[in-house]
Amino acid sequence: MNTQQNNTAQEGVRPPVHEKKELCDLDYSQDPPRILSNYLVHAPKPFNAEPHLPLLVNAGLITPTDVFFKRNHGPIPDIRLEDHQVYIGVQGLDESQPVEWKALNMHDIMTRWPKATITASLQCAGNRREGLAQLKEVKGVIWKAGTISNAVWSGPRLCDILKDIAGVPEDLHNEMIRNYHVSFEADDHVKEDACYGSSIPLRKAMDPLGDVIIAYEMNGQPLTRDHGFPLRVVVPGYIGARSVKFLQKILVQPQESTSFFQRRDYKILPPWIDSSNVDTAWDTTVSLGEMNVQCVICTPMEKEIILCPKPVIVKGYAISGGGRAIYRVELSVDGGKTWEPVDKIEQTPDKISGMYWAWALWEKKVPKILTTSELVVRAYDSSGNMQPEFPIWNYRGVMNNAWFRVNNVTQMPQHNM
Ligand code: MTE
Repeated sequence: MNTQQNNTAQEGVRPPVHEKKELCDLDYSQDPPRILSNYLVHAPKPFNAEPHLPLLVNAGLITPTDVFFKRNHGPIPDIRLEDHQVYIGVQGLDESQPVEWKALNMHDIMTRWPKATITASLQCAGNRREGLAQLKEVKGVIWKAGTISNAVWSGPRLCDILKDIAGVPEDLHNEMIRNYHVSFEADDHVKEDACYGSSIPLRKAMDPLGDVIIAYEMNGQPLTRDHGFPLRVVVPGYIGARSVKFLQKILVQPQESTSFFQRRDYKILPPWIDSSNVDTAWDTTVSLGEMNVQCVICTPMEKEIILCPKPVIVKGYAISGGGRAIYRVELSVDGGKTWEPVDKIEQTPDKISGMYWAWALWEKKVPKILTTSELVVRAYDSSGNMQPEFPIWNYRGVMNNAWFRVNNVTQMPQHNM
C-alpha cells in the first residue's frame, strides 16, 4: 500500500449501518424539483421518469441534466457535501476477519487524484420493457425507449483510489483482480433493501481502459441530487444499475454484492420463469454487466401526424456495451423487407481509452412516409453483434433490444394543409 499518499484517509473508522425502512416510512417530501414537462413520469414516488423521445434526440449528443432520465428506488437523500464520507475496505476470503475501513471526505475525493472526464451513456436494463410487457406479464416499471441518456462525467478513477487506499494490486494478471468484485452501497433508503447497492468485477474497476470513475460532476456541474449528489459511480459500458448514486461504501470482496439489486434483480431469467417460480432461479442466473446492442427511432413517433409534406428526417440513437462502437445502422420503411444504411452516424470514442462509452446519434432522410409504411431500425456493433428481430421475453423485462418499429405515422400531403 502507498502509505505516503494515504495520509489523509481516516483509519479505524466504521461505516454507518443502514436498517431497512418500512414502506410507509420512506419520506419523499424532500425530493428535489424537476421539469416535469420534459418527462413521461412513470411513478412520482420513487421518482421514475424518461424524457420524451423527440426531446431526448433533439437535445443533442450530450443530454442536458434536466432532460436526463431519472431512475430511483427510494427518496432522494439530502446529503451535505461537508459531512459526506466514503468508506473503503477489503473483505478477505476469511469472512470472520473484520474489514479495516478507511474513510475519505469529499475534499480528499476531489483533490487527491487526477480528475478524469469521460462521456458515457447510462441506459437502464429495463429500457423498452414495454415491448416485453406486451407479450406476457413482467415485473417492473413499464419503461418505453427513453430510459437512456448521455452525459460528461468527472471525478477520480476508481482504480487509482483502490490502489492507494485499499492496496489493490495494479497488475491485471493478479489472481485477486481476476476473482474479486467491488461492491458499492449508497446512502439512500429503498423499498427493496436496507439501501441501494450493486457490484462490478474488480477487473473492470482496475482496468485503466475500463474508465470507471467516482463522479462528482455531471455536464461540468456538481452532480444534482437526482443524479447522485455528492458522488456516484459511473461504470461505462455497463447497465445503469451498476452506476450507484449517493455513494457511501466501497468494499472489495471475493463475491458479488449481496444487495437485492445484484442478486434478485437485473438478470435475464430463463423463459420458463415467471411470478410463480421466480425464487427458484435467481441464484443460478448470472447478473447483468455489459449492455447489449440497442437502437431506437426517436422521431417520428408512433401515430405522429406530420404536417409538412417535405422529406422527413428520421432520427434516433444506438449504443452497445463494453465500449464497442456502433458499426452500422440500417433503416427500413417497409416493415423490414428492404433496408438502407442511415445517412449519418455521430459517435465519438473516449479521447484516452479509445472506448465507445457514448451513444451514437443517427439520421436518415426519408422522402415520404405513407400511412402504410412501417419504419424499422436495427444496428450492428463492432463485434458484429446485431439486434434480434423479435423481443425475447423474460420475467424481469430486461435487455429488450429487438428491432425498433414505428407504425401509423401520417404525413399530410400538400393539398390537405
Ligand atoms: N443508485 C442509487 N443509490 N439508487 C438507485 O435507485 N438506480 C440505479 C442506478 N444507481 C439507483 C442508483 C439504476 S437502476 C439506474 S438505471 C441508474 O442509477 C439511473 O441513473 P440516473 O437516475 O442518474 O439516470
